[in-house]
Amino acid sequence: MFEGLLVDLVPYGKAFQEQEHRWLNNESTFWGTAGDRLIVSRAAVERWQTERQNDGNRPDGGSIWFGIRSKAGVPLGDIELGYISPHHRMSMIGVGIGEPEYWGGGYGTDALLLIMEYAFNWLGHHRLWLHTMGSNVRMQRAAIKVGFREEARRRRFWLADGQWTDDVIYGLLRREWPGREAMIGRLGLLARREP
Ligand SMILES: CC(C)(COP(=O)(O)OP(=O)(O)OC[C@H]1O[C@@H](n2cnc3c(N)ncnc32)[C@H](O)[C@@H]1OP(=O)(O)O)[C@@H](O)C(=O)NCCC(=O)NCCS
Repeated sequence: MFEGLLVDLVPYGKAFQEQEHRWLNNESTFWGTAGDRLIVSRAAVERWQTERQNDGNRPDGGSIWFGIRSKAGVPLGDIELGYISPHHRMSMIGVGIGEPEYWGGGYGTDALLLIMEYAFNWLGHHRLWLHTMGSNVRMQRAAIKVGFREEARRRRFWLADGQWTDDVIYGLLRREWPGREAMIGRLGLLARREP
């Protein structure tokens, strides 16, 4: 478990799995999948959860998942290091807060700083990257805020509600990462009471 200011990263257990069906069928998945509006059955969610549990055993490193839990104990969503490459020492961050009323409140930033510290300082990563659609301003602002730089833009890549939108790729190198404590100071982040 990693303790942040507004959230903790915890094992992705039953409390999160129970929310997954609702999260996958709500607005968060439109943003999380870059424009797909899924209609997912409970059976499909269960199958997918089983597959994901085995993913960490893949020889190429697979992925590592955490649940994002608010300080009051509310399961908010998940955050992942995916496409982990032990050889190149890098992975891709995926993050989704499934509860829209928590968006824009700093929870994503807090979760990102925790997983970045884990990737760089515990796993010895050299690089982290992520990508999102051009219209996902929240994700882009959060990425820039925690230190990522835009590295590439694939034009008219995703189809979101009938509109083509770019894919924006962000990267951050270990040598550019000042550490979580320094970032908290730089951004002036404080713990606060939940609404
Ligand atoms: C993307 C996500 C993880 C960001 O987490 P968050 O808790 O909402 O973000 P934060 O509050 O920490 O920071 C978001 C930034 O966007 C800004 N923001 C908030 N609401 C916004 C809005 N409607 N439009 C534009 N910017 C907005 C915030 O002000 C903040 O920037 P600032 O501090 O520079 O002002 C979260 O919104 C989410 O899970 N969304 C749905 C799924 C998703 O998009 N996943 C990412 C897929 S790549």
